[in-house]
Amino acid sequence: MKKIVIGITGASGSIYAKRIIEVLLPMGYELHVICTENGRKVMKYETGTDIDEWIKHLKDHYATIHIEDIQDMFSGVASGSYPYDAVIIIPCSMGTLAEISQGYAKNLLTRAADVAIKENRKLIIVPRETPFNAIHLENMLKLSRLGVALIPAMPGFYHHPQSVQDIVDFVVGKILDYLSIENNLFKKWRNE
Ligand SMILES: Cc1cc2nc3c(=O)[nH]c(=O)nc-3n(C[C@H](O)[C@H](O)[C@H](O)COP(=O)(O)O)c2cc1C
Repeated sequence: MKKIVIGITGASGSIYAKRIIEVLLPMGYELHVICTENGRKVMKYETGTDIDEWIKHLKDHYATIHIEDIQDMFSGVASGSYPYDAVIIIPCSMGTLAEISQGYAKNLLTRAADVAIKENRKLIIVPRETPFNAIHLENMLKLSRLGVALIPAMPGFYHHPQSVQDIVDFVVGKILDYLSIENNLFKKWRNE
């Protein structure tokens, strides 16, 4: 697996998106980042990071990161013929979840997710909301039945986290495990 689309929405938890990008880049993955308008605002609010400036900075070190224009349906990732291996939406708002579950592919992110489903490629959704209402749960169930992985931003504590970073790494590690990407982001259960 080499090409991954990373979607970032306006749910709380953009710190997870930053971490997965930081971890995947040095591993040699080509990343296509699509951020919603609210995703930009929440990332700035929660982490102080301006996504465009941050990605520009990363690009000085890694030529393999690209930020996509969410309105650009002429981008390669809009097409099923473009060979990306997985789409990870992290964190995923209930709004974007609803659009994907209805096939409402009106921007590049929901289109990339729609393509992943129709092409039987890996789509990982990292939902963040609490409590969930029945609409959220029905949308997740519908997507789960289509083979979409719902990996919630729901950290465990059995690895004895000592910092926020440890908590974030648990969730990111779970996503990499699902994609069979070797990592030591958290101590596996009973793996001393
Ligand atoms: C600080 C902040 C935190 C938010 N956290 C969540 C959240 O955890 N989950 C969620 O579904 N929406 C959350 N929202 C609301 C979404 O940003 C809003 O529903 C938005 O329309 C989502 O749009 P998007 O999916 O295009 O990014 C939050 C909004 C703000 C301002």
